[in-house]
Amino acid sequence: MISITPTGKSMGAIVTGVDLSKPLSTSDFAKTLKALGEYGVLRFPEQHIDAAALRDFSLRFGPIQVGMSEGFRHPDVHEVGILSNVIENGKPIGLADAGQDWHTDMSYRETVGFVNVLYAVKVPVRDGKAIGDTLFANMHAAYEGLVPEWKTLLTGMTATHDFNKFWDNMRMNHGSSRPALTPEQRAKRPPVVHPVFITHPLTGRTVLYCNPGYAIRINEMSEAESDKVLDMLFKHQLQDKYIYRHSWQVNDLLIWEHIGTLHNAIPDYGPNEHRMMLRCQVMTTPQVFEAGFVARAVEHGSAMH
Ligand code: SIN
Repeated sequence: MISITPTGKSMGAIVTGVDLSKPLSTSDFAKTLKALGEYGVLRFPEQHIDAAALRDFSLRFGPIQVGMSEGFRHPDVHEVGILSNVIENGKPIGLADAGQDWHTDMSYRETVGFVNVLYAVKVPVRDGKAIGDTLFANMHAAYEGLVPEWKTLLTGMTATHDFNKFWDNMRMNHGSSRPALTPEQRAKRPPVVHPVFITHPLTGRTVLYCNPGYAIRINEMSEAESDKVLDMLFKHQLQDKYIYRHSWQVNDLLIWEHIGTLHNAIPDYGPNEHRMMLRCQVMTTPQVFEAGFVARAVEHGSAMH
């Protein structure tokens, strides 16, 4: 029987009693979807699944974004991407620097990310302790923790999110060897605008949807004022009290929802300390933001109906 145990920290719960190599029952899917809203991050320990099962589980939450270049996708299941620092025959087999530094996946798109699903194949261990943790920040709590004046000021305001901000940050501050985006690449990913506060589709509560990885400007303010407010928001949302640290174990399957969280993969391991995750990135659909979404997903046993 499925059992969901909160971590007791700022977010996160551990889900046991399910075998994800087989399809989740409708009622277990319903419990999982509700827990995902409530806890933001769910760990399913000791799962033994192949890439096809990972894809099928992920598809219960929505369509999968197949964004990674072909060389970094699973050879048989192209919806599954490989995040890894492993080099085989002189060639990287996965994307080595994904998700390092705080961000929310795909906030730079009109259609934003919904759920990330990661399966731990290799976890680096040093002196008996797992490294390469992933940090999360709770944006339900960060919204609630804003002083009333800030809530009032920012209600109805919007922020511009730009893919290039994260890309350049990786190049300039994280030693990434990725080349600067060409004008053509930038034109393919123009900046987009989202409300600073969003009603979360799983909880119906307001979240702060403005992350340091991609948000560049509060549009209803002067540039100087926007810079000041963004700086304040980024500091506010990353206070220790909102942060949850996930320490990986091999065969962990971790899912998190993007709308109410930020995340940051910590690159504290060396080239010979191997980390490998299989990932499916699930996108939102317009239905996610329609009234009654959760009730319909629960009834159908899937967010895709
Ligand atoms: C990601 O941002 O999708 C990767 C997170 C991780 O590797 O821990």
